[in-house]
Amino acid sequence: MSRRDFLRSSAALTAAAFAGPCIVPSSVLGQSAPSNRVTLGIIGCGNQSTMDLPEWLANDECQVVAVCDVNKGSYGYKTAKQFLGREPQRDFVNRFYAKKTASGNYRGCDMHADFREVLARKDIDAVAIIAPDHWHAVMTILAARAGKDIYCQKPLTLTAGEGRQMVQAIRQHKRILQTGSQWRSNALIRRACELVRNGRIGKVQRVETFIAANNFSGPGPGWQEMPVPGGFDYDMWLGPAPRAPYHKDRCLYRFRFIRDYSGGQTTNFGCHSNDVAQWGLGTDDTCPVEYEDTGAEFPPKGDLFNTPTKVAFRARYANGVVLECKTDELNFGVKFQGTEGWLRVTANKIECEPQSVKDSLIQDNETHLYVSTNHYRNFIDCVKSRKEPIEPIETGHHTATLCHLGNIAMLLKRKIKWDPLKEEVVGDGEAAGMLTRPLRGPWSYSMPLKA
Ligand SMILES: NC(=O)c1ccc[n+]([C@@H]2O[C@H](COP(=O)([O-])OP(=O)(O)OC[C@H]3O[C@@H](n4cnc5c(N)ncnc54)[C@H](O)[C@@H]3O)[C@@H](O)[C@H]2O)c1
Repeated sequence: MSRRDFLRSSAALTAAAFAGPCIVPSSVLGQSAPSNRVTLGIIGCGNQSTMDLPEWLANDECQVVAVCDVNKGSYGYKTAKQFLGREPQRDFVNRFYAKKTASGNYRGCDMHADFREVLARKDIDAVAIIAPDHWHAVMTILAARAGKDIYCQKPLTLTAGEGRQMVQAIRQHKRILQTGSQWRSNALIRRACELVRNGRIGKVQRVETFIAANNFSGPGPGWQEMPVPGGFDYDMWLGPAPRAPYHKDRCLYRFRFIRDYSGGQTTNFGCHSNDVAQWGLGTDDTCPVEYEDTGAEFPPKGDLFNTPTKVAFRARYANGVVLECKTDELNFGVKFQGTEGWLRVTANKIECEPQSVKDSLIQDNETHLYVSTNHYRNFIDCVKSRKEPIEPIETGHHTATLCHLGNIAMLLKRKIKWDPLKEEVVGDGEAAGMLTRPLRGPWSYSMPLKA
């Protein structure tokens, strides 16, 4: 029984003991009384934790009680100023909560180096997985087995195959999972998708999705192994990925440009732009059926980095709608082309033709999309209510799969056909073999939960 299940059942027992109208004012229990808060463990204290942690801390409905990272604390992340890892982030959390106490002292946030210790803690309800992509599946499945609810950063997966296993684990263990594609909780994006869904630009025929260029280059061919820095558990960083010589450009932040750990900007930004395309098209439960390269470029052979330097692929849905995904200076954005106009949405504006589309009201009897104004808050609310969050596991899995299949087509430079129901590549053994990866031992989805 998880902590929240226990709290729920004791609340039910208390209610039964005082049978009759018993309304306890929230001033007594307190909406955010400690016993009512969702307790959170943060797994991965790097670059994105600097965006996610303040969101969790600002929410009185949850309490960060532990942070975990294989790195004790170091520079070497996205920007030169970032000093990150489990120690700095534990101190960050404690400083934040200390400001809220009368004494100005707070040491309630613990730190761990092994995420299995976090999963073993009975006082933790949910985990936020902000580790690199190659860890998402093992961590999510073990967390689900341990009875935790999960906020897992995008891209949800490293491969389409592991996504299916994650879906099964979440459903089997009845866990809440929010995929960290936070544009779904943006009002402008929702408005754009509602306009498209309600036919304001006619029938959609084509959608373009824009992806940021690589913001780092690799060390180039001939790179040499480096000594592993102190305080960094490299073997635990690699985890289920193949054993490989250490280089500073392999791990912190830059892992996203190496196929063993990520799908490059295709999955990094694709799980934003393509996710919005899926929402606008109403295809969250499926994926395009065909994928082809349209001129992707890659780093030179022998470089440590091997994901596309230029993303360019075309996909086609079963109903004929074409999706063009490409590197663009826009970084993030989606353009829907319909029979009666077009609509382009970026981080801060909607542009469209005809112009009148922008001011069009969505009537009561039309399609209204799920409303979430804060992705993190939506997750915590759903942990409490047990309702589905705005980006449940299947949605994150389909968006990531679309990106993975684009990557496979760009790598193989040939058309890939996909059966979205069976989740199988049709008639191409080599491409089908790229849907899964072996996990390096001792890591497996069925391994014991204890370290
Ligand atoms: N939603 C968004 O907009 C957004 C933006 C950036 C990154 N992300 C996602 O967040 C994830 C992390 O990216 P990042 O930029 O923060 O990378 P990062 O390298 O800066 O941070 C990842 C941290 O995870 C730690 N880590 C690695 N293995 C671990 C393990 N076994 N246990 C505990 N910690 C471990 C690393 O040491 C590192 O500190 C990625 O999946 C990325 O796609 C999402």
